[in-house]
Amino acid sequence: MFLKIIKIHKHEAGLYFHEAELRGVLAPGRHWFFDPLGRVRVEVVSQRAPWLVHEKLDVIVKSGTLGDRALVVDLKDYQRGLVWIDGRFSHVLPPGLFAYWTTYRDVKVEVVDARTVRFVHPDLAIIVKSQHAERLLECFAVPAGHVGVWFRDGAFVETLPPGRHVFWRNIAEVKLVPVDTRELILDVAGQEIMTADKVTLRLNVLVTYRIADARLSMTVADDARQALYRETQLVLRALVGARELDNFLADKDGVVQELDQGIRRRVPGLGLEVVTVKVGDKLIAVFNERGRYFAIDDVCPHMGASLSGGYVEQGIVTCPWHAWRFRLADGAWADNPRIKIGCYPVRVVGDEVQIQVPGGPPRPTAQSEEQI
Ligand code: FES
Repeated sequence: MFLKIIKIHKHEAGLYFHEAELRGVLAPGRHWFFDPLGRVRVEVVSQRAPWLVHEKLDVIVKSGTLGDRALVVDLKDYQRGLVWIDGRFSHVLPPGLFAYWTTYRDVKVEVVDARTVRFVHPDLAIIVKSQHAERLLECFAVPAGHVGVWFRDGAFVETLPPGRHVFWRNIAEVKLVPVDTRELILDVAGQEIMTADKVTLRLNVLVTYRIADARLSMTVADDARQALYRETQLVLRALVGARELDNFLADKDGVVQELDQGIRRRVPGLGLEVVTVKVGDKLIAVFNERGRYFAIDDVCPHMGASLSGGYVEQGIVTCPWHAWRFRLADGAWADNPRIKIGCYPVRVVGDEVQIQVPGGPPRPTAQSEEQI
């Protein structure tokens, strides 16, 4: 009765304890113990499941009895383990003590230093998909057309390209901010600006830009786009405020050019790059007066009202807002003909009204439209 027989199968090992102290690892076969006081305990474990999980693993490892039957890994706080079993990735290990049977399975553990914070590996895609990997790894996706600005504990580290980026958790505070590097449009609309001769104009500016230095754009100003908006306003106000109205209208192209240069000078410090600057969109009003067609700029230079909604009489359209009057035949301001707005040649071809716009082919409109 005091004899204890333990049978260990070929794929098994026996953890032999005597009074809770590990005495050895039993190999396959029959083992006989004389145990009148019930002090012997043998735990039979399968070596086909290679991970040896045991509450007394530290005792087992320290006893040295595992020998070359197991691979022991002791990971420090800053280390992580990548476990490969039979050539396939299995799991990621946190800091701690681990042991794997190696008799029946080919186990390899790759120890990595997590102090780098960013985790880069040729098999990254497989590793991040493994079970429970998200407990130790944090993934960020930077979309196409963007870059990722990486901050570690609040300090800039580097700018990363589009794609997936993976970082170790619990090492540092990581922030990866996606920044759009495609061409963007800033609409500085409805700017009411007074000319030098005290006429208020309403202007729209479209700035096409892109972010040239993502880090700078994030760190120099709290909002680079808002800063660009402010800079555009300032340059525009300075240019228009220094000119009298007729001078402004006579040299619109020069104003746009100066505006462009002025904005370009200011934006590099914001990490931005200006692509184009345009003042207003070209909206054209077409009028049919007694069977004859006329085309002039639709936007009233005073405060931006649409002239197509104005009252037409004797070849003159009166602005619906403040009654500035423009001649349909040449776009001249009827009360001061030195000031002109754009006026365009019109021809009728079949059922189309075609307008010749500088720099573009004839623009057709439906013949039924009297004003647009
Ligand atoms: S908007 Fe004032 S006159 Fe046209």
